[in-house]
Amino acid sequence: MANSTTTTTTTTFFTFLLFFSTVANLANAKTHFHGFVVHETKVNRLCKTHNSITVNGQFPGPTLEVSNGDSLVIRVVNRARYNVTIHWHGVRQVRTAWADGPEFITQCPIRPGGSYTYRFTISGQEGTLWWHAHSSWVRATVYGAIIIRPRKGESFPFAKPNSDSVILLGEWWDANPIDVIREATRTGAAPNVSDAYTINGQPGDLYNCSKKDTVVVPVSSGETNLIRVINAALNQQLFFTIANHKFTVVGADASYVKPFTTDVLMLGPGQTTDVLIKGDQPPARYYIAARAYATAQGAPFDNTTTTAILQYEAINGTSSKPIMPTLPAFNDTKTATAFTTSFRSRDTPIVPTEIDENLFITAGLGINQCPPNANPKSCQAPNGTRFTASMNNVSFVLPSNFSLLQAHHQGIPGVFTTDFPGKPPVTFDYTGNVSTSLWQPIRGTKVYRLNYGANVQIVLQGTGIFTAENHPIHLHGYDFYVVAEGFGNFNPKTDTAKFNLVDPPQRNTVSLPVNGWAVIRFVADNPGTWIMHCHLDVHIGWGLAMVFVVDNGVGNLQTLEQPPQDLPTC
Ligand code: C2O
Repeated sequence: MANSTTTTTTTTFFTFLLFFSTVANLANAKTHFHGFVVHETKVNRLCKTHNSITVNGQFPGPTLEVSNGDSLVIRVVNRARYNVTIHWHGVRQVRTAWADGPEFITQCPIRPGGSYTYRFTISGQEGTLWWHAHSSWVRATVYGAIIIRPRKGESFPFAKPNSDSVILLGEWWDANPIDVIREATRTGAAPNVSDAYTINGQPGDLYNCSKKDTVVVPVSSGETNLIRVINAALNQQLFFTIANHKFTVVGADASYVKPFTTDVLMLGPGQTTDVLIKGDQPPARYYIAARAYATAQGAPFDNTTTTAILQYEAINGTSSKPIMPTLPAFNDTKTATAFTTSFRSRDTPIVPTEIDENLFITAGLGINQCPPNANPKSCQAPNGTRFTASMNNVSFVLPSNFSLLQAHHQGIPGVFTTDFPGKPPVTFDYTGNVSTSLWQPIRGTKVYRLNYGANVQIVLQGTGIFTAENHPIHLHGYDFYVVAEGFGNFNPKTDTAKFNLVDPPQRNTVSLPVNGWAVIRFVADNPGTWIMHCHLDVHIGWGLAMVFVVDNGVGNLQTLEQPPQDLPTC
């Protein structure tokens, strides 16, 4: 305790020195201190009580409210029986990769009984992000919102809303989620799908034993609400709508966008969308609803619907029946695409045009044949196989002795290799009907090395091996520009002309279209080891990930900080 108080004071002191001596307009920036105790809590859902892992006994966990430019110091104590790390999803973590959180990438896990203090600064980001556990499936119940408001004296780029609320979409298993993924790892089959989706932790009226706890979002006639929607579900893209109300989308992934209106949102896990809604309907109760956007042909998914209630202040009590919206069909790719292609940056950003690193990365599922002597119990995917997933045919394997960041920083050999390929090993019709024998992923901890400051373009290409589906691809440590997306195989000759280099949206998670591609660009100006992965947790476990190692640049401001004293060891 004494120790952590001293470090805290020292940091605050240096923080103040920095603020007052070098950056005058940051004088208002604050440092927020939080304690996160991760432990089991009884949580009652769908008529049953579970011992769920939570932060501070709250489900969802605490909301962090900060202003752009503020710093956070969060001491995480692990009193649960599983390894834990916390990732601050979308926070750029410039020079502070040690605080990013993914286990075995930037830190070893916090073991049961251990603790670790995350220290980082929010800079140049406004809107909504979130935090979640980044270890096995602990994030099923360990997540919360991060609200980033404009700095003091600055304002939203739209009229100040009358109220500001968070909608965290989650996914609930009527079982211990860690057992669900462990079972799937054992059998090689797909894990059981969830039993409910949730809004701010509650399934809502359409599920058993849930009605009395349905979340109510108040609205006043004539007023404007800012609603921050976050998809914190483990494995499912979700459509989201509110009966009879239109959304004006103003931001996504903590970047502002040119406002556009829509009746329905689609968010992949990891994505956030900030919308304005107006209390312009007759006072009544309206359902807020979310359900799956499911693209994998024939694969089972949770087809239930979570609801909350938008209730006008003028309505007293809960007797009137809420009005139900219509949601798009589960496989309505047209609606999903119309939504994802409506995003434009609010301002005119400087998009990198001289590309130093032009990568082509396939992303998708695969299946591994089991050797003839394998235990059939461990080969329960279709036809006695095991599911796998890969990028450029490499199925990513986490290290176990050191985090990649430690290995990189201290030059520890044997933890990773730098031979992640910049293009697929074989070229074929990626979205066609291709034999799985063409594509037997190899396992490895392969990284791709980037020079500091490199201008990077990545063509992400979905594959149709075993099955095609939409993948929410998330890159740590960066916001990237989504310059184009489309269906089929990316064709540089014809598709390059479609790139939006004027006002592409900036995001940390791109929805890679089913049987399609997306092109992203960023400047590698943040040193560290950064994982890029599908944000469907079931796919991470199968290896749908890769890692960029970004070298230091010149001088302090382009160099990774020294590791914190209390960094957990493996
Ligand atoms: Cu929200 Cu590595 O993820």
